[in-house]
Amino acid sequence: MAAVAHRRPVSVVGTGTMGQGIAQVALVAGHPVRLYDAAPGRSGEAVSAVTARLDRMVEKGRLERAERDAAVERLTAVDDLAGLAGSALVVEAVLEDAAVKRQLFADLEKVVADDCLLATNTSSLAVTEIAGALRMPGRFVGLHFFNPAPLLPLVEVVSGYATDPAAADLAYDTARAWGKTPVRCSDTPGFIVNRIARPFYAEAFRLHEERAAGAATIDAVLRGSGGFRMGPFELTDLIGQDVNEAVTRSVWDAFFHDPKFTPSLAQHRLVQAGRLGRKSGHGWFPYGDGAAAPEPGTRAPCEAPREVVVHGDLGPAAALAGMLREAGVEVHAGRGDGVGEIEVPGGARLFLAGTGPRDGSAAGAVRFDLALDYGSCTRVALAPAGGNGESGLRAAVGLFQLLGKEVSVIADVPGMVVARTVAMLIDLALDAEARGVASLQDIDTAMRLGVNYPAGPGEWCTRVGAGWALGVLRELHEEHPGGRYAPSRALRVRAGDTEDGS
Ligand SMILES: NC(=O)c1ccc[n+]([C@@H]2O[C@H](COP(=O)([O-])OP(=O)(O)OC[C@H]3O[C@@H](n4cnc5c(N)ncnc54)[C@H](O)[C@@H]3O)[C@@H](O)[C@H]2O)c1
Repeated sequence: MAAVAHRRPVSVVGTGTMGQGIAQVALVAGHPVRLYDAAPGRSGEAVSAVTARLDRMVEKGRLERAERDAAVERLTAVDDLAGLAGSALVVEAVLEDAAVKRQLFADLEKVVADDCLLATNTSSLAVTEIAGALRMPGRFVGLHFFNPAPLLPLVEVVSGYATDPAAADLAYDTARAWGKTPVRCSDTPGFIVNRIARPFYAEAFRLHEERAAGAATIDAVLRGSGGFRMGPFELTDLIGQDVNEAVTRSVWDAFFHDPKFTPSLAQHRLVQAGRLGRKSGHGWFPYGDGAAAPEPGTRAPCEAPREVVVHGDLGPAAALAGMLREAGVEVHAGRGDGVGEIEVPGGARLFLAGTGPRDGSAAGAVRFDLALDYGSCTRVALAPAGGNGESGLRAAVGLFQLLGKEVSVIADVPGMVVARTVAMLIDLALDAEARGVASLQDIDTAMRLGVNYPAGPGEWCTRVGAGWALGVLRELHEEHPGGRYAPSRALRVRAGDTEDGS
């Protein structure tokens, strides 16, 4: 491991939210740190702010007083770029504008030595574009920290077109030496997290636009069945609809309007209306005094049938047969092959999302959504298909309630809620891996640490099977042709669905 040495300073340019956080990380890791900001007095204020944060760490017992004193000694504000001469690493965190960043690095290169590693914390600009202004672009990398930098472990180490592998290694090892969990990625729109996460928001917004279910229900299903910590509606209300939409738009623009990344009209209307989320008192949901907490649709208790017949292979839902048996339902074995189905004699035929008939023969069918773990999940979505009678639906509701699950009933749209989201995440992740954006392992790490996913898309793919995810996307693609749901070649290969995929 060859991290940046402690002899020479690490410098941070732009001492706002991110610059202060990154400075604190480098300081606590033992480096001398210099701060520079273009706004007069701002770097001095940042020294005070970082010092105050170190004081809080001492109060909380997370830093020894002597270490705090030594760190404060190592922290200096400078008044101009020339004060950064002699730095071993400069991390830039100025405003998100390519022209400003390019000019800054062109000026910086006149000040620092040729062996100084240069890094940008940009979250949406191309590293390659910023590097274009440099005399020596090989020593330039993206070092994308997440906010708040001292607390969040993930750092995306981004290699632009000209980045020297040794520079990326040095940045990677330095982030690791700072106690972070770095992942490597190529210079792609949104890097890993902001690229792969798009469908988590977009699929939910589309379901809402299609009137498949209400926002609170979609959130509850993604939490209760998908294991996500927050649903997309409540999460974007927290992030700010304007901020979330801007990321979506920048990725979509950078991909030349690829339909896989199309923004949501419904979200755009929210932004136009000034309903930006918690910060404006109203987003998808209302906030403030007297605002009622959004309530998901939850079915009243129904009686569970005493017996079922399980046919074929239930795939990712295979655990259900044993769970029903344990819950006291008589489970008979039906036909051994073909599409998995739970038949309630005289009642419903239950199919996992992405499977079962979607034509006239769907009469009497009820679809149930994917749960990432049917054992521990707390809620399952059901959809009556093909004019199913209420009695069949009640039997299906009763079965899942018997297993201790809350049940939400939604419209029978392809891919339901969790299945559609997870299939899209898997597809984007496999596609990104195939295009050399990052390893699947790094993608999984980034999604777990960057956006708190309960598991990474690669891990989900192993659990649910590429063939099943492919089936979900094919259903969606048939219903919404236009490219958004066209399965990637990488997914088809993984599912053994192409000549070279066996
Ligand atoms: N805020 C986040 O959640 C977040 C997360 C990851 C990455 N980023 C990225 O980090 C960068 C900074 O974001 P922020 O939220 O800390 O911004 P901020 O507005 O809090 O701080 C930016 C600072 O840069 C200074 N500045 C502007 N132009 C300058 C110049 N030419 N030279 C020196 N200083 C200059 C400003 O005076 C300001 O103090 C952006 O590129 C942003 O995309 C932000």
